[in-house]
Amino acid sequence: MSFPKRVTIVEVGPRDGLQNESEIIPTPIKIEFIHQLAAAGLSVIEATSFVSKKWVPALADGSDVLPALNQHAGVRYPVLVPNETGLNAALAAGAKDIAVFTTPSETFSMKNTNCTVADSLARMKTVITQAKHAGCRVRAYISCVLGCPYEGDILPDSVAAMAYALMNDGCDEISLGDTIGVGTPGKTLALLETVMKKVHRDQLAVHFHDTYGQALVNIYVALQCGIATIDSAVAGLGGCPYAAGASGNVATEDVVYLLNGMGIETGVNLEKLIAAGRFIAKKLGHPPRSRVNAAFGDK
Ligand code: HMG
Ligand code: MG
Repeated sequence: MSFPKRVTIVEVGPRDGLQNESEIIPTPIKIEFIHQLAAAGLSVIEATSFVSKKWVPALADGSDVLPALNQHAGVRYPVLVPNETGLNAALAAGAKDIAVFTTPSETFSMKNTNCTVADSLARMKTVITQAKHAGCRVRAYISCVLGCPYEGDILPDSVAAMAYALMNDGCDEISLGDTIGVGTPGKTLALLETVMKKVHRDQLAVHFHDTYGQALVNIYVALQCGIATIDSAVAGLGGCPYAAGASGNVATEDVVYLLNGMGIETGVNLEKLIAAGRFIAKKLGHPPRSRVNAAFGDK
């Protein structure tokens, strides 16, 4: 398998990155952050979520963030929705791109969305159908694909079956989430080979959290498999509130550096990206969690 010539980075910093921060970022700062990411050349920026504010208070302002964006031409701004209530709010705010989420783990499903896996899949089917009817592009995340904080190992076959079902429901893309960052290259390869028997690689994305420092090597495995959509968060922001021990997403700066070194196009300007990471890290009051950002020094 040859490497892709071009990779689409799905920047999840404003959503996955900010959902778990104790510091609640004011709406105008979120908007400025998203503009900086677009100006750095990112073409897909997950802007916010439309989930319960009791569950994720840090993103309670989704209905203010999305309509206020001065949307750059050629940039997509997906938003995360868990149910019909979230979809209706997202559509009212002007969303054209949505992301739904589910998992094969019963316990994680209960903790994250207060419903069983079967109920979650039924909810997703309704949301996907309505979103497609409204003209949206729909991505579906499958969480805990390489391990669950509550149930341990997850069978690749169960992930593949779920991915297949979600595509049949009308999704455009499946993002495979290593929510707690436990994957290693051998397990990642086994998972991807199993899923790719059911869903074409062009419709797959990978979403690694970097808890054990394995994200970049797992991304390399995905690239070897021909997968050309990679999720990441600038400054290594992120974590899932319902996944104890989940650290940040892999840092976008580190992914761009890897891809630049491999001669794979991303369209992203690394210097502007580093500046965006520093901007939001300063607002959050901690340094960027990106090796490349740190190595860049005061250049
Ligand atoms: P629930 O408490 O079972 O909801 O939560 P409910 O249907 O019983 O309703 C209770 C109240 O919530 C009602 O209001 C509803 O109107 C309201 P009340 O009558 O009490 O005033 N409500 C909502 N409000 C705003 N937006 C909504 C919404 N829905 C109901 N969409 C629910 C169920 C799914 C809403 C909740 O569990 C939830 O919001 N969960 C989301 C948790 C979350 O955002 N987790 C992180 C994202 S997933 C992730 O990070 C993984 C990922 O990155 C990939 C990876 O790394 O693997 C994607
Ligand atoms: Mg995540």
